[in-house]
Amino acid sequence: MALVTTTEMFKKAYNGGYAVGAFNVNNMEIVQGITEAAGELKSPVILQVSKGARAYANHTYLVKLVEAAIAENPEIPIALHLDHGDSFELCKSCIDGGFTSVMIDASSKSFEDNIALTKQVVEYAHDKGVVVEAELGTLAGVEDEVVVEAGSEMFTRPEEVEEFVDKTGCDSLAIAIGTSHGAYKFKPGTDPKLRFDVLEECTKRLPGFPIVLHGSSSVPQEFVKMINDNGGNMPGAIGIPEDQLRHAAELSVCKINIDSDIRLAMTGVIRQYFVEHPDHFDPRQYLKPARQAVKDMVSHKIKNVLGSDGKA
Ligand code: G3H
Ligand code: 13P
Ligand code: ZN
Repeated sequence: MALVTTTEMFKKAYNGGYAVGAFNVNNMEIVQGITEAAGELKSPVILQVSKGARAYANHTYLVKLVEAAIAENPEIPIALHLDHGDSFELCKSCIDGGFTSVMIDASSKSFEDNIALTKQVVEYAHDKGVVVEAELGTLAGVEDEVVVEAGSEMFTRPEEVEEFVDKTGCDSLAIAIGTSHGAYKFKPGTDPKLRFDVLEECTKRLPGFPIVLHGSSSVPQEFVKMINDNGGNMPGAIGIPEDQLRHAAELSVCKINIDSDIRLAMTGVIRQYFVEHPDHFDPRQYLKPARQAVKDMVSHKIKNVLGSDGKA
């Protein structure tokens, strides 16, 4: 199967009560770990590239890695998506450069400016057969260069979603319901709760329309401990409870973004490896278990959070 857009994936996910995982890719081991897991579990998957990933690994290298993953896993649908595009030029460059989906994240702009920029990207993208994710509301945490302090996030206003989708023509919408980027999503001792009332209000106003959740890592404490036990220092790292994400996937959420959990798994395993093998210096030795950790993490998400196994 060639690279696909998310249109068919989301239709099936919406009707089937599951979500497709969107995992950030930055290098070969991450691409391999994710797609091996999705391939074995016969799951659709979205590989997403941030502006930072593109600056780190180079657009062409990432596209070619994804093409290699498609050749190795021909039986599953794979979409290649720009995560948090912050300008028309960046979106255009990815559309022209082989991506099948882009996000234009103008959520930090005014409602009117968000509409105008999103519409401009949608017109260009649709003309080339590429789909567009947009965002309304702001998440706490870091989105590329934009930093939003916890407590300053703004939940999506459901009364705005219809007008936004109508005027922009976007294909999916990321909303803010209490998720946030990074490994420190809630203060220790607080009860992490997503705003399902906001999600339900948005769904009522946009029946059948795919909703996206960013900032959906669960920050598994097993990996936080592995990091801290092996020289790391990540006190109080807390994520979104998996059962709440599973519930969101049963509703209108069709795409769930996960990056931090992959970072934690790789970092924990590599830190432990170095403590256990202080004399090793061949990158293949420590990147092999790191790649396996990515695969295990993604397999776990597909089976226990997304519910997308067997849906390819
Ligand atoms: O939402 C942000 C993603 O985790 C990508 O992070 O911009 O550091 O590549 P990045
Ligand atoms: P996490 O930091 O929770 O993994 O979120 C990733 C994300 O939303 C990428 O766009
Ligand atoms: Zn995000």
